[in-house]
Order: sequence, then structure tokens, then C-alpha cells
Amino acid sequence: MTIELPMAQQELAFQVLSNPEPMPIERRQAVLDEPVFGTVFTDHMVDICWSEKGGWHRPRVQPYGPIPLDPAAAVLHYGQEIFEGMKAYRHADGSIWTFRPEENALRMQRSAARMAMPQLPVEYFLQSLKELIAVDGQWVPSAPETSLYIRPFMFAKEAFLGVRPAKKVAFYVIASPVGPYFGGEAKPVSIWLSTNFTRAGRGGTGAAKTGGNYAASLLAQSEASENGCQQVLFLDSVEGKFLEELGGMNIVLVYRDGTLVTPKSDTILSGITRDSVLSLASERGHTVERRAVSIDEWREGDASGEIVEAFACGTAATVVPIGQLKTPDFTIGSPDAPAGELTMSLRQELVDIQYGRIPDVHQWMVRLDS
Ligand code: PLP
Ligand code: COI
Repeated sequence: MTIELPMAQQELAFQVLSNPEPMPIERRQAVLDEPVFGTVFTDHMVDICWSEKGGWHRPRVQPYGPIPLDPAAAVLHYGQEIFEGMKAYRHADGSIWTFRPEENALRMQRSAARMAMPQLPVEYFLQSLKELIAVDGQWVPSAPETSLYIRPFMFAKEAFLGVRPAKKVAFYVIASPVGPYFGGEAKPVSIWLSTNFTRAGRGGTGAAKTGGNYAASLLAQSEASENGCQQVLFLDSVEGKFLEELGGMNIVLVYRDGTLVTPKSDTILSGITRDSVLSLASERGHTVERRAVSIDEWREGDASGEIVEAFACGTAATVVPIGQLKTPDFTIGSPDAPAGELTMSLRQELVDIQYGRIPDVHQWMVRLDS
């Protein structure tokens, strides 16, 4: 898919303030050898200010560290915040690439529009990633299935307790070397069906990548953990019948005839991983359906043998087979169910593209270190 970029903007002139105390090389290497998702961060971060009067200004790369924030900053009270999630991959020749970053930039603009925040131009978003990699490129790991997780985020920093869109906003980018989100290999995960809680409602913020959606998912996520599951699956909030998405991933079901079905709803996040995997599947000749799919359809399809695989997908998780769905009333699959064949082969094709092991015919990869 080609993306129409908005009119070219001028490049930002970043000020680079080097970290006087970067992590010692041996310690960094120990982190890169065995990264644990989202626990250790690189030496620097990007910081760009926005104000109603001055627009985007004061672009900086600065030492990673605490952000000074007025206790009255609107984000702390009303949760006006959005974020993105993406990864930098090291290829065999040492070069550093990311996957479909314009899609993240455009999604962040959509999230911003929904949350009454300013839209960061796509070019500034991409330039920020490159600026960070220019100083912290050594932090991109090279061990198999590792990457540098990049977390751009934006929040309302105006100190004002009135409830209205903030007139001062900050955009940051931080990064953390990561291994598999669920630890270990891509072995099947168990997911818990939340029947007590929903994540998003009609007209709400479900399609935006905003912190509140994740805050709303945490109690259900705890319920999932208590029931021995790694993720929670939400149903629609109107009828409590139709699959939506997991706390941090999209969901896809695979039918016996090779058809892939994924929920269509304007209350879920439009996942870039899901879009990519479904493109790969349809190029292989699989039928792809984006439509309402009910929990009864999954239950009955599993019992009849009509539904043969299920997987979760997202940037952090990549593609992960679902071995089991647990609900208060019934269970589908089992924790030791084998990983689905199509799931694993689509996963392989996707990560092979991301790590530069097969040709990138879709031109999804963008180089960050040049
Ligand atoms: N749904 C939710 C709630 C997520 O947090 C994510 C992760 O970003 C996704 C879906 C998958 O989106 P993507 O594939 O763009 O990472
Ligand atoms: C991502 O996949 O990038 C996310 O933001 C989801 C979160 C579970 C880490």
C-alpha cells in the first residue's frame, strides 16, 4: 500500500545534548545479550515541545532521565496522552531498520485528533527516530529475535486544572532493547475472556492508542493472570458477544479452508502487524475477512473443527499462537496445544522481512542509520 505523505515539512534542527554518563559498554552488552521487555532504556531520548502559540519547537536529543512536570500538568489529571510502539531491527550487515514507520506516524496523528492534541508532522516523527538511532544505535541488539523497542509518546503538560485540550504538549521518544514479549520462544499463549469488563465503547477512544485504554484493561489483565493466562480478550461493550481485541494485541482466527477472520470494529486499534500479516496471507491466496465475529462462532467453530488456529499479533508480541481461550464458563483448546502451522509460517515470513532475511518486496522497511 502506498502512503500519501502530507506536504514535505522543513527538517527540524535538533540540539543534541550527549549523556555525560552513558551506560558502560560491558553493562550495555549484558543487557543486549538478554534483553527483558521494557526494563532498561537507552542513554538518550528525544524531546520536542508544542505550544498553541509556538507550534512544534525546541527539538532536542538529551540524556535519558526524569521529566520535570508541574503537579498540575493536565496529563496527570485528565489522561490526555497518546503513544506508539515500533521496533528497530539489526540486519546481518549491521544496518538498522524499522517497519512501516509512516503507518505509526499516521496512526499517532489519528490518535492525536481523537484526543484533541496537535498532530506531529510525519517527517518530524521519522526524523525523531533517526536522531535517536544516530546517538543510541549501539543499543540495537543483534541476538536472534531481539530488537530495540521504540516508544514515541505525547502528553498534555500544561499546568491547568480546567477541563479543556491543553495548550502545551510534549513529544518524547524513548527506546528499550527487547526480546520476545512473552519471554522464551513463540510458544502458544493462554488468553482469558473478560466477561466483567469492556475496553472501549461506541464513540469512545478504543481506536486511539491512548493510555486510558490500557488503564481500563489492567483489572481485566489481572483477572487473566489470576486465571493463569498471559493476555485478556475483550468483547464488544454493546452486546458482549463480538470479539474485539486483546489488552495489547489484535486477534485473528484461522478456518479449516485457510480463511483468516479478524474483528472489524471502530472501537479497536488498527494494528500494523495485523494489516501486514493479513496482506502476506492474502498474497498467498488465503481469503481474508474483516467482519464481526462472535464468541459463539469461535466456540462452535472450534467444536466442529471449522476453526483450526488462532493467533495474537502486535509490534511487541509479533505473531503469537493462541493455545487456549479460558472463560468463566468454558475453555477452547489447551495450554499445551501445538502452535498453528499457518500462524507460525506467517510469523516466520514477517520476521524474515523485518530482519532483512528475505526481500522486502512491499518496501515496508525504512533504514534508520543513514
Ligand atoms: N491492539 C492493541 C490494544 C495494542 O496495544 C496493539 C499494539 O500496539 C495492537 C493492537 C497491535 O498494533 P500494532 O500491530 O500496530 O503494534
Ligand atoms: C505494542 O505492541 O507496541 C504495544 O504498544 C502493546 C503493548 C502490550 C506493549
